[in-house]
Amino acid sequence: MSDLVSRGAARVEWIRSRMPLLARTRAEFAASRPFAGHRIGMSLHLEPKTAVLLETLAAGGADIVATGNHGSTQDDIVAFLRSQGMEVHGTRDDSLDQHHANVAAVAAARPDILLDNGADLAALAAADPWPIVGGTEETTSGGLRLRDELEGRIPFPVIVINDSRLKAIGENRHAVGQSVVESFMRITNLMIPGRRFVVAGYGWCGSGVAHYLRALGGKVAVVEVDELKAFEAAMDGFRVGSLDDLAEWGEVFITATGHPGVLTEAFFRRVADGAVLANCGHFPWEIDVAALRAYSSGATQLDDAIERIDLPDGRHVILIADGRMFNLAGREPKGNSLESMDLGFLLQSLSLERVATDPGSLVPGAQPVPDDIDREIARRMLAAMAAHR
Ligand code: NAI
Repeated sequence: MSDLVSRGAARVEWIRSRMPLLARTRAEFAASRPFAGHRIGMSLHLEPKTAVLLETLAAGGADIVATGNHGSTQDDIVAFLRSQGMEVHGTRDDSLDQHHANVAAVAAARPDILLDNGADLAALAAADPWPIVGGTEETTSGGLRLRDELEGRIPFPVIVINDSRLKAIGENRHAVGQSVVESFMRITNLMIPGRRFVVAGYGWCGSGVAHYLRALGGKVAVVEVDELKAFEAAMDGFRVGSLDDLAEWGEVFITATGHPGVLTEAFFRRVADGAVLANCGHFPWEIDVAALRAYSSGATQLDDAIERIDLPDGRHVILIADGRMFNLAGREPKGNSLESMDLGFLLQSLSLERVATDPGSLVPGAQPVPDDIDREIARRMLAAMAAHR
């Protein structure tokens, strides 16, 4: 076994041992073989938890062809999955062009079930269709794309995992809250207590981020375009304001909106000297990095995911991970907690099982996770949590 494969295998072993929901499903799938005769094409972060998901689907008889998302692929996990006979494309250092080529390679294998993250595979299937039974979409952003840009062009069912209330509570709110705090500490090594944070977006992710930062003593303000969410943030005790109000107050700005162009040139012209800018939304478009670089007078990479961007009037900002999702960036990224991904990937597994075994119960295009699946997993999760007591 190469060093890379054995390192990947060891890391997956730890993760696998703490994903009891998937362990149970792996045993059930090995008996029922719901994916026998199917090829599942995946485009999702290639990290140890995903490896356990792929093992679970393979136990159910699936032939797997997979790639990661840009910038988050872990090479030891790719090596481990290849050693298990899966076709896996991508490396951590892939350029954006190479990443697109990887996604195209997955599509070229003509999978009849798609496991998508950001609707990249669905977009290729809409442009150049092939026979597809159905699929799943992991994120909010991919769900938006399916319902907007790809509306009416997807003839097969796609279950949007992110539409699950269970996932929103377990992952977007609590796990992203925890991992953003972990990543901020791991990447910057800065103190949280007393530091002034501005969180843009008070949806599932942003509200979790705000609460977890405050729990560690951060002073947190929220920027929200939806007045009801802004009201909720105010009622939860956060300072609420516009970016204009808060540009000079905040020391750290974290975007969590799922929308482009949140931190723009107007903001860069006002932001306080030394402010840290980080994004946890899916796409690297919430901080307008192109506008920031165009406005800047120079840039220096200070550490793996830390870049100082000098501004023409002598101020500077610190850009984390080039504006990419920073809870999967930097050295040794952990991503969201094991338990939240056990839950999220069980949603994936049971939704893909529904696609493979009962596609007639679903409608074409984007749709939420069937309610019975959400409730079944909530029951299993509660039982697993009770077992810890
Ligand atoms: P959400 O829809 O619950 O929340 C987004 C919030 O942002 C909404 O309340 C919306 O009104 C607000 N918003 C939109 N534009 C805004 C703007 N310009 N300024 C201020 N607020 C604005 O979505 P959710 O579930 O919180 O997801 C947010 C992003 O995080 C998505 O891109 C999603 O894919 C991503 N995500 C990231 C994860 C991670 O591990 N980093 C995990 C799960 C989701």
